[in-house]
Amino acid sequence: MNTLELVKGITLVVHFVGLALLVGLFIANMKTKTNFPFGWMVVGAAVQLATGVVLVGMKYALDEDVNNAKIGIKTVLVAAALIAAIIGNLRQKKGEAKLQPFFHAAGGFALLDVAIAVIWSGDIWGY
Ligand code: HEM
Repeated sequence: MNTLELVKGITLVVHFVGLALLVGLFIANMKTKTNFPFGWMVVGAAVQLATGVVLVGMKYALDEDVNNAKIGIKTVLVAAALIAAIIGNLRQKKGEAKLQPFFHAAGGFALLDVAIAVIWSGDIWGY
């Protein structure tokens, strides 16, 4: 059995669960004006960041090519999503209004991240 591949596979499954949480909550609540699910979005973004870092480590351990520019941009975007969700969460707890921009920022950055993850690929662009 190839333990490293198995660990990487399990990490990728959790990476997809984090993605589902973040993007799913965004789409399901797009028309919401109050009670945004910021708490779970913080969890989703944190899961993406943590599993993403482990995945990069696994790729190095398995001697696979790592696209550092892509990883860098994905990290900046998920950090932006995480910060937007944390600020939205804190403000919502204080009873503040005008929270939709934070919700849209968190969801929008997550969607951009999926697009970059899938479309920025040498298989598509032939490098
Ligand atoms: C909201 C944030 C994120 C989303 C939606 C996301 C989404 C995805 C998706 C859909 C894949 C599978 C497609 C592929 O293999 O390229 C993937 C793979 C991967 N992600 Fe992310 N990701 C996010 C954040 C991150 C971060 C922050 C990192 C690194 C710090 C990261 C590292 C990786 C790596 C290394 C793989 C490739 C695993 C492999 O070789 O099979 N991701 N991600």
